[in-house]
Amino acid sequence: MSPEKSCNNIGRNPSSKSFFIETYGCQMNIADSNDIRHMLVENGFKDSDDLDSADIIIINTCSVRATAEQRIRGRLGYFKKLKREKNRIVVLTGCVAERLSEQLLYEFPDLDIVLGTHFKSNFVSAINTYIKDNERKSYTGFHGYSFVDSHEDKEQNFRAYVPVIHGCNNFCSYCIVPYTRGREISRSSGDIIRNIKKLVEKGVKEVVLLGQNVNSYGKDRGDVSFSQLLSKVSTLTDVERIRFITSHPKDFTKELAEIIAYDDKVCKYLHLPFQSASDKVLKAMGRNYTFKSYMDNIDYMRKLFPNIALSTDVLVGFPTENDDDYRMTLEAIKKIQFDTAFMFKYSVREGTKASKGEDSVPEKVKLERLQEIIYTQNNITKSVNKKRIGMVEKVLFDYKAKNNTNGYIGKTDSFKNVVVDSESSIIGNIENVKLDSLSGNTFIGKIV
Ligand code: SAH
Ligand code: SF4
Ligand code: F3S
Repeated sequence: MSPEKSCNNIGRNPSSKSFFIETYGCQMNIADSNDIRHMLVENGFKDSDDLDSADIIIINTCSVRATAEQRIRGRLGYFKKLKREKNRIVVLTGCVAERLSEQLLYEFPDLDIVLGTHFKSNFVSAINTYIKDNERKSYTGFHGYSFVDSHEDKEQNFRAYVPVIHGCNNFCSYCIVPYTRGREISRSSGDIIRNIKKLVEKGVKEVVLLGQNVNSYGKDRGDVSFSQLLSKVSTLTDVERIRFITSHPKDFTKELAEIIAYDDKVCKYLHLPFQSASDKVLKAMGRNYTFKSYMDNIDYMRKLFPNIALSTDVLVGFPTENDDDYRMTLEAIKKIQFDTAFMFKYSVREGTKASKGEDSVPEKVKLERLQEIIYTQNNITKSVNKKRIGMVEKVLFDYKAKNNTNGYIGKTDSFKNVVVDSESSIIGNIENVKLDSLSGNTFIGKIV
């Protein structure tokens, strides 16, 4: 559609155009932005780190909570100011683009292209069409997602984010993601292996396999299961380290726990969101597991690998969550002793099942609950971290510490930050590091 033509005196030769990408949201969006960057560079556009001078501004957006969307609206207001100073093309992509589609073109007259999540592979042609026709357009809707090859990360070129399954079939009653990403589509295991082999040839040491629910991998196309995919990536490629997110508790399997515990390349870290410990609330959320079955998974994982690092997502203030329900969640946090947790208060998302009912927990109560669990978990994180002092872990070094001339920061297998002193650069190296002490939540270690 085209609400109006805009004045585009940006020129017709794409090869001279620079672009700047701003990314919000989850690792899926980080991966998508990287794919977009590579597609544009391969087609002659120039990657720029300078928002103010770029000819094309791309904003890759998240819609998971109302606040995330609000932030995007604020940014679009700022881009309007930038556009007054110099004409440029503004492109909005990602989950907000998919959700609000052409409405955004009416609401933001300075926005030129809206490109939904299934149109990533059409990014270059959408920009070229705009340069040629000067017509504002939105491209949204689920017309069939195509995977493109993943590339190494821009900053940490020894790491690559590799989406293996796109979309989500779960329709948790609070969540917008199935509406912004569409149904689950798995990438073929052969294609994933081919892509990872190519990445390894280019120097990639760590791959992060991505999906909203990686445990559903393969079901839609009758391919191998996710644990078999992990095993293939481990045995058929020379990648040194494998991470993945996110696992859904309803589809967690013993095989997956076993490969995490026993495969040396698979990181000893599991992110398993539980959201609530009240079965009543879990049912209303449409999560399809009970808290008892969640605990069975955790117990099995810990039985196989006692030092596994565990993280989770928690959602408080969901409609009908009463004080008793909330207390169960708080007690679960104390009992499980996660390494970290991502904690949120419920935000109504238009179009979801839960949005049709009342947002019954008062904002003040939501906030109090959230503050209490954050406070509780922060103390747990500190005490859990202390228990790792003295251990030796494999660390992949990411970057040089800013305030310490010889310090290098890396991530352990268990996904903890570590700083190590080294005379020469160890960025991109995997080393065995003894965790000597803690500064905040960052370990200070020594290569052994
Ligand atoms: N696929 C993942 C979650 C992706 S969204 C899973 O099922 O585990 C990341 C997290 O955002 C969710 O786990 C949930 O805790 C939070 N979230 C999702 N929708 C939300 C909403 N409407 N309000 C507040 N938090 C929400
Ligand atoms: Fe959202 Fe649930 Fe799908 Fe996760 S599993 S993306 S929370 S609908
Ligand atoms: Fe946000 Fe979309 Fe990811 S809503 S969390 S960017 S899938």
